[in-house]
Amino acid sequence: MPVILAIESSCDETSCALSRDGVILSNIIANQTIHEQYGGVVPELASRAHMQNIVPVVDAALKKAGCELSEVDAIAFTHAPGLIGALLVGSQFAKSLAFSLDLPLISVHHMQAHVLANLIPRHTNGVQEPLPSFPFLCLTVSGGHTQIVRCESPLRMQVIGETLDDAAGEAFDKSAKLLGLPYPGGPLIDRYAREADATRFPFPEPQIPGLNFSFSGVKTAILYFLQEQTAKDPGFIEKNLARLCASIQDRIVSILLNKLKKAAAQTGIRDLCIAGGVSANSGLRKAFQEKGRELNWKVFIPPFEYCTDNAAMIAITAHYKFLAGDFADLSVSASARPSA
Ligand code: KG4
Ligand code: ZN
Repeated sequence: MPVILAIESSCDETSCALSRDGVILSNIIANQTIHEQYGGVVPELASRAHMQNIVPVVDAALKKAGCELSEVDAIAFTHAPGLIGALLVGSQFAKSLAFSLDLPLISVHHMQAHVLANLIPRHTNGVQEPLPSFPFLCLTVSGGHTQIVRCESPLRMQVIGETLDDAAGEAFDKSAKLLGLPYPGGPLIDRYAREADATRFPFPEPQIPGLNFSFSGVKTAILYFLQEQTAKDPGFIEKNLARLCASIQDRIVSILLNKLKKAAAQTGIRDLCIAGGVSANSGLRKAFQEKGRELNWKVFIPPFEYCTDNAAMIAITAHYKFLAGDFADLSVSASARPSA
């Protein structure tokens, strides 16, 4: 029954979603293009753009959902982790709204929300698609994080592996920068990789023990390889762009899936999910499905709009928190750190 209005503002997307009984009624996302010219997200500009976007985005989400504010049962927002100025815009807005409407407030952890994007009900031809069964494993891959999470229930999860250095999204974006592509380079690598033939440049797979990841070695290998090749032929990158993108993408994907395979074998869990911005990558989605067929996993992939930052994932997490009576009070503050 609960109608939830959820806000996400942790990085450079301002988003608002409405859900009723865990079903997403609307999910409006305003992207901030201002950062492109700087080659990365500029925190202060992100905060300012959130301030400009938040009221129209909330209005549009209410309108699309066909909801009035008077029908809303709780206000949810991302409290951590992210850019502090960006988080403060969403959290102050959410707190003010909850206070003025005398509604309960729900604070949501961004990484937990990425995982729970897999629990958003979906329908194909009117039939609800199956959801993952607990316990499941989720490979959460975003611009700031790379984790394997073991989920016992919607609100009980544990990180069993994570990156020791760069996140998978950073590995995509930094590699793209080495190729001279604009920020964010992940989607561009994905696009060019589709045009490549089958031959690949050999970038190494790091040997990291356990379930942790490392991407800094691959990045260095790419840098040295490009320096060596462009010294011989300044047009090397341009001539080989598609093949370079495919080689980088294949290596990042294989690092991710080999660890996920190890985690599945160690835990005996067969319901596997992916989440986060990098789970929008077509190479990862395809390879994950193939691995699933090969190893007899049940695989779950959120639709694109629930992979990159969005408020629908905040709404579904808040839905479960509402059912559990897990509310925040007005003293709750935003935090840049993941441990908050
Ligand atoms: O989850 P997200 O939207 O924001 C964070 O919480 O960080 O993830 C953003 C990351 C960026 O690094 C972006 O380049 C990457 O996700 N990304 C992709 C693709 N779409 C987004 N990386 C590779 N292929 C894509 N199609
Ligand atoms: Zn994210």
